[in-house]
Amino acid sequence: MNTRKNKNRIIIFDTTLRDGEQSPGASLNHREKLEIAQQLARLGVDVIEAGFPIASPGDFEAVHAVAETVKGPIIAGLARCTEADIARCAEAVAPAKRPRIHTFLATSAIHRKYKLRKARSEILKQAVASIKYAKKFCKDVQFSPEDASRTEPDFLAEIVKAAIDAGATTINIPDTVGYAIPSEFGTLIATLFERVSNIGDAIINVHCHNDLGLAVANSLAAIQNGARGVECTINGLGERAGNAALEEIVMAIRTRPDLFGGVTTNIQTKQISKTSKMVSRLTGMPVQRNKAIVGANAFAHEAGVHQDGLLKERSTYEIMRPEDIGIDSAELVLGKHSGRHAFAHQLTKLGISLKTDEIEHAYQRFIKLADKKKHVYDDDLMLIAKEEMSEPSHVYLLHYLHVSTGTNAVPTATVKIKKNKEVIQDAACGDGPVDAALKTIDRITGIEGRLLDYSLQAVTIGKDAMGEVSMRVAFGKEIVSAKAASTDIIEASARAYLSCVNRLMSSKKFTNLRKPVKKKKVK
Ligand code: KIV
Ligand code: ZN
Repeated sequence: MNTRKNKNRIIIFDTTLRDGEQSPGASLNHREKLEIAQQLARLGVDVIEAGFPIASPGDFEAVHAVAETVKGPIIAGLARCTEADIARCAEAVAPAKRPRIHTFLATSAIHRKYKLRKARSEILKQAVASIKYAKKFCKDVQFSPEDASRTEPDFLAEIVKAAIDAGATTINIPDTVGYAIPSEFGTLIATLFERVSNIGDAIINVHCHNDLGLAVANSLAAIQNGARGVECTINGLGERAGNAALEEIVMAIRTRPDLFGGVTTNIQTKQISKTSKMVSRLTGMPVQRNKAIVGANAFAHEAGVHQDGLLKERSTYEIMRPEDIGIDSAELVLGKHSGRHAFAHQLTKLGISLKTDEIEHAYQRFIKLADKKKHVYDDDLMLIAKEEMSEPSHVYLLHYLHVSTGTNAVPTATVKIKKNKEVIQDAACGDGPVDAALKTIDRITGIEGRLLDYSLQAVTIGKDAMGEVSMRVAFGKEIVSAKAASTDIIEASARAYLSCVNRLMSSKKFTNLRKPVKKKKVK
């Protein structure tokens, strides 16, 4: 029997570290996953889906570490409906105070016929057996009929009932391919409530993908029809076009209580902006400027008539206040006279934990930045700290960069890179200064990368703002992404590229990509 006391509370199930990490180009190392999980706990999510333990030893380790260290939320791991997956998942989530096994199996005709080649009866049997097997390890078991929105409603109702009878405490209804539209998806949830006699014994979650841009709308329609759990990700990250964005769902419910029967969430909305920035920085996935709630323009009023209205009465054009999601306009923090103590204190305030030697290294970067830049904002500090955290081992460090370019000049770069105690120097020409710098780095490291994506964004306001370069680089078949920032955008490009090289090397797949090169050592 479902013992949930408050049926008006929406359970926020965050899958940034699982479905979100499946976003093409978003990759997180172990430490970054832990950092995000701790921030999700501060944000107040109810469930963290920390990964897919059987997928790789790295995934297993990350789920295990989150289960061991993150206090507060339920820690879930994903498993297909097989004993091997479930046992591995159970082992990974075991250290959590409240572990959950989330097992899934596709139910739609299209998946049954082409992917699984199984009849309805076989799918039903496998789901029930898997749930019962998972219950041996953990009392909290969630079942997802994958591609539920394209499953025949009668079969969906049948399998949901059987799953609850088998012991599933949460049933998740995924719109796996983002195919549903809100009225249809809402009706599907209502139909399940009508047809499934034991539905009151489980929580009904929904998990919507954004292929038609409707993930949030579908999730909200599901809530209006009885769903009490929403699976979502920070910034809407996820497979293909992503998942429903946590921040949009939470703020919609909060802003329009009149339409959602007064349901609430446990989300500390003032943590939203910080969480969004952290996830964007660590995954290397930029947030579009006009993204709802967390985009840079979300609270920027440009039109004169709007500004006039706002000055007279805020509610004329503002349905939410920036401070509600933790945007503080008076966030100017440190300057070049700030000491290590103030610097470390500010990092802690921002929810960033660095080791002592990393703080020292980050502090040196901060001082250099404060020398160049008049105002140092929280965003600048987050960026410096992120770069400390995301470099698992600095195999290569940029030591010196000189670029010569101009309208009628051949862009040329001279680069010195530090590898352990050795400094290696080389030079090359390119189509532009970035091309020249990256080609020189290729010559030094002996690893040739192909730039797939490159974007540049100002981190804060002002002409002296740091430019943040995000890039995705292919090294043979391996694709790596990274970000770096500097007041000099060529330097930011070179450091982002080196960061990709470092990430590649730590992924251990680089050995066959290296070409022997003649290096010029420098004293
Ligand atoms: O999109 C989906 O169906 C999923 C399931 C594993 C829940 O991610
Ligand atoms: Zn999904």
